[in-house]
Amino acid sequence: MNPHKMIPMFPADFAWGAATAAYQIEGAWAEDGKGPSVWDLMSHQPGRIWSGHNGDIACDHYHRWREDVALMKELGLKVYRFSVSWPRVLPEGVGRKNEAGLAFYSRLVDALLEAGIEPWVTLFHWDFPLALYRRGGWLNRESAEWFAEYTGVVADALSDRVTHWMTLNEPQVFLGHGHQLGVHAPGLRLGFDDLLLATHHVLLAHGRAVRSLRERARKRPFIGWAPAGNIATPADPDNPRDWEAARMAMFDWFADPPTRTPSESHSLWNNSYFNDPVIFGHYPDAALKKWHAWLPEVQSGDMETIHAPIDFFGVNIYSSSTQRLDENGRPAAVPAPQGYPQTFFHWAVTPESLYYGPRFLAERYRLPIYITENGLSSMDWIARDGGVHDPGRMDFMARYLSELARAVADGVDVRGYFHWSLLDNFEWAEGFKQRFGLVFVDYITQKRVPKDSFHWYAEVIRTRGATLSIGHGAGALAAPPGPL
Ligand code: FCB
Repeated sequence: MNPHKMIPMFPADFAWGAATAAYQIEGAWAEDGKGPSVWDLMSHQPGRIWSGHNGDIACDHYHRWREDVALMKELGLKVYRFSVSWPRVLPEGVGRKNEAGLAFYSRLVDALLEAGIEPWVTLFHWDFPLALYRRGGWLNRESAEWFAEYTGVVADALSDRVTHWMTLNEPQVFLGHGHQLGVHAPGLRLGFDDLLLATHHVLLAHGRAVRSLRERARKRPFIGWAPAGNIATPADPDNPRDWEAARMAMFDWFADPPTRTPSESHSLWNNSYFNDPVIFGHYPDAALKKWHAWLPEVQSGDMETIHAPIDFFGVNIYSSSTQRLDENGRPAAVPAPQGYPQTFFHWAVTPESLYYGPRFLAERYRLPIYITENGLSSMDWIARDGGVHDPGRMDFMARYLSELARAVADGVDVRGYFHWSLLDNFEWAEGFKQRFGLVFVDYITQKRVPKDSFHWYAEVIRTRGATLSIGHGAGALAAPPGPL
């Protein structure tokens, strides 16, 4: 292939990124005045985390951030998404500030900017302060005010340099896994009414944080959030009825199709219950009907608070279901074919989720879309030649990014992509079993080894996706691109 013919598949200002989260990489769990979080509590309880792992040290990023920023620079990242640990900056969650904690993030931001990388800050990626959990956690309505106070403190410290903000990461997951199923911190199994009450407070917290940022930020903030995307795609892309089924499965699932089990109908794993209040200012009507017996009291002014205008729609997308319209005009999930491709986490490999996901979300919510997470875990180790060879990751990324490029080509307003993750890290209940990184981490020595996918992604970024058109990962490496 003539390298001069290669055509960039993404616009010049596309935000090429990678993402991490505080508890998953920082370590230093009790250092420099940091307070404990619910994850510190849970990961120290026997039997909670795979193999008894915990995030006490994790990737030791708290001490090795310089080296990690240098890796990001080598990768050519334009943007980097990381989270601030709430109890590191406010050890009791409110009140007394921990200047050492704030200084850590301040140094990190400086180093990123110096490396030409725009920091994107997530305010809450699940490490809720233990002291506030003892005061009722998200079940306490005051949690919204606590979060607003914390947001103000971070804004005061960083907003002279940081302009890109995300309030909450995947509320569906920290509520569903952490407060309903009990497999994530704080390990609760609440009744459904309490769960919806906590959800309401989480949404209020989001809205209060948006307001706090607008009031306190020194540089004009660009604000969004990062919910989990529950993506559905049409079984037959040429059949408009299947497109309709996919849209219904994504936004209108409350109508309770007969195939749903009771546990599914009480699941928070959905899009509209979270995003409609934030973007439209009301819970979906169908949810109000279906869940009326469990719904929390909504006080006057609540929906206005939750509905504080945001600037972009971040969404984490890993996989999707396939839908067709059944004879009753309802969406029906089509089972994945036998032997379907899956990651080490057993998540189905569905590249088309990065086409239909952003497309359907942009259609409904009419905001610029950023893919705030996408990636896979695989069985990586250091090979005899010293490298880490992960052809699966390159192939996965090539497939997913090609679908994202197709969305861009079809006019969907997608403006950025953050790969999950920069580093292998502590994968919550799975401990260090799942390796999601572009960079391999040896947890004994803390040595970082860029995987093949790291070098491959660097080329994708450099060529704005042009190398995607010459095949999968290994192919792209074999034919290094020339000047664009
Ligand atoms: C998402 C989380 C992120 C990471 C990936 C694999 O649900 O937001 O922290 O664990 O999954």
